[in-house]
Amino acid sequence: MASHHPTDVKRFTSALLDWFTHNRRELPWRETTDPYAVWLSEVILQQTRIAQGRDYWERFMRRFPRVEDLAAATEDEVLRLWQGLGYYSRARNLHTAARQIAARGNFPDTYEELKKLKGVGDYTAAAVASIAFGHPVAVVDGNVYRVLSRYFGIETPINSTQGKKTFAALAQELLPPDAPSAFNQAMMDFGAIQCTPQSPRCLLCPLSGSCVALSEGRIDKLPVKLRKLKIQTRRLTYIYVRCQGFTAIRRRSSGDIWQGLWEPPVPQALGLSEKADAALSLSPLPMGKLTMLHRNVKHVLTHRILLADFYLLETEVRPTLPPEYIWISESDIDDYAVPRLIERLLESLP
Ligand code: ADE
Repeated sequence: MASHHPTDVKRFTSALLDWFTHNRRELPWRETTDPYAVWLSEVILQQTRIAQGRDYWERFMRRFPRVEDLAAATEDEVLRLWQGLGYYSRARNLHTAARQIAARGNFPDTYEELKKLKGVGDYTAAAVASIAFGHPVAVVDGNVYRVLSRYFGIETPINSTQGKKTFAALAQELLPPDAPSAFNQAMMDFGAIQCTPQSPRCLLCPLSGSCVALSEGRIDKLPVKLRKLKIQTRRLTYIYVRCQGFTAIRRRSSGDIWQGLWEPPVPQALGLSEKADAALSLSPLPMGKLTMLHRNVKHVLTHRILLADFYLLETEVRPTLPPEYIWISESDIDDYAVPRLIERLLESLP
């Protein structure tokens, strides 16, 4: 990528910062430079919308006002508070990193030191270094890709190695060393409010006079993203067992996205065939009354789509289950962190 003329750089940056002073969103984590508060907001907002993330940020800050408080919590409690946000590895990494910070005795205050924390990558390290410590490091997220690819008319795919390099270098070139925090957050807000993925507000845009994509009618073609492999659909079946006011759950231990979360039995655990669908509707279960609660409940993740069937098994006698299952009082189920999909099952119980 050719370097941009200093005048272009200055024009883009000053128009953006000017826009930001008039349009910045008032957000609670913008009223502090406490690195813990800033870090927490960035981790929460990685895959979550502001409206939802804000409540979670406030709950975390209330329950764990300092990083030492978070470090001292159990993983179960952290996951429980995180419940509903999804992508639970974020919560587990957050907890691990809090313990790393507590162990070293202070909050890492450089981009390089921040990156040594569990779960902290380029994006989070740059966000915390710039917002909390005022260091001149540009953040690169989806907003940055979109704004820069459009304004400068760059067609390099944003998810290619070259694209990542190009956009990171350009963002760094544009960042004013005396206002890294404002610049980075201006890019985030500009991408979220003004230069949106669909129907950007070009008519009202302060950068419209020099936006390459707008002048060439290519706004809806940028940014370019390479199509990755097709997203797979996976079918799941869960059977909520109700027995004398008790229900059975197990904690997932495999290293998947739901590690540490609890779930009701799957058909195999009850000795039913993996082809749960056919088996459950055809075979009369000796151990109780089986009802279908929901069919084809769709749960969309970034890398796959889950389609789940939910059943309720009501029985007077506890069925034999593999040893990892525990029996808990149904009224205590809220004490256990469950995936959002299972929360939907629980909500559908009669
Ligand atoms: N999204 C991620 N981080 C953000 C921040 N600091 N402000 C606004 N939106 C964000």
